[in-house]
Amino acid sequence: LAAGHPEPPKDIHFSFEGPFGKYDAAQLQRGYKVYREVCAACHSMNLLAYRNLGDKGGPFYNSKYKNPNDNPVVKALAADAQIDDIDHETGDAIKRPGIPADRFPHPFPNDYAARASNGGALPPDLSVMGKARTGGPEYIASLLQGYPTPPAGLTVPTGQHYNVFFAGDVTEAWKGDKKHVPAGGFIAMAPPLKDGLVSYDDGVKSTVKQQAEDVAAFIMWASEPKMEDRKQMGLAVIIFLLLFSGLLYASYRQVWRNES
Ligand code: HEM
Repeated sequence: LAAGHPEPPKDIHFSFEGPFGKYDAAQLQRGYKVYREVCAACHSMNLLAYRNLGDKGGPFYNSKYKNPNDNPVVKALAADAQIDDIDHETGDAIKRPGIPADRFPHPFPNDYAARASNGGALPPDLSVMGKARTGGPEYIASLLQGYPTPPAGLTVPTGQHYNVFFAGDVTEAWKGDKKHVPAGGFIAMAPPLKDGLVSYDDGVKSTVKQQAEDVAAFIMWASEPKMEDRKQMGLAVIIFLLLFSGLLYASYRQVWRNES
């Protein structure tokens, strides 16, 4: 691979691929846990409210609760978070436990503070990250696993990390043969995952690979929560068009039948 070109994302099989693909609720729940316990320290997900977690097709959907605001799991997850608010009597800034209508809290007061904590780089909002980069969830899962020991001859700048899936050009930092510059780039995000970092409640082994794929699936769901509806509608449309073509053909035969 030429310099300036990252490696293409790994080919990962996700349950939601293909025309009949569906999100795997257990995987989305594990992915939410990874986001909450690891990524949320730096990355916001501005577009998500806790109640979305209980929407149909969402990680904590329960058909008993048509309104996700009534779902006790959703309520508990929201109450776990501390939300910035103002005291309506004194006007003071306060923190209070979340309710399902609250959006996910932002990890930093503003982008300056976010950059200051991350060596100048801004951790992007992850709400629609499943759609924002070529490769979507496969890219996210690959990026999180894409931190090999830098090859000898590559000087990684302070505060940066070598990642084979991150776009960039490491030619300047490469002492070896200019024809064989390593693929990938330098990213300000340190490898966030470790084996066993997040403890799973469903018995699934918590490897880096598993955590990476689970959080990528969760981010994909957040980016396109209505994917299942879209695919179902597409299928219904195709079936309708097939039947309609048959009908048109039959009427064409009828209209143009030879009566002489
Ligand atoms: C960038 C995901 C944890 C700090 C990114 C990007 C993604 C991502 C998809 C964008 C890469 C691109 O631009 O193509 C995640 C996920 C995490 C996680 C899923 C949890 C598993 C963290 C943590 C920190 C962090 C804990 C801070 C300690 C950053 C920074 C960037 C970044 C600073 C910008 C890097 C740059 O532009 O050089 N992350 N991240 N991330 N992340 Fe994370």
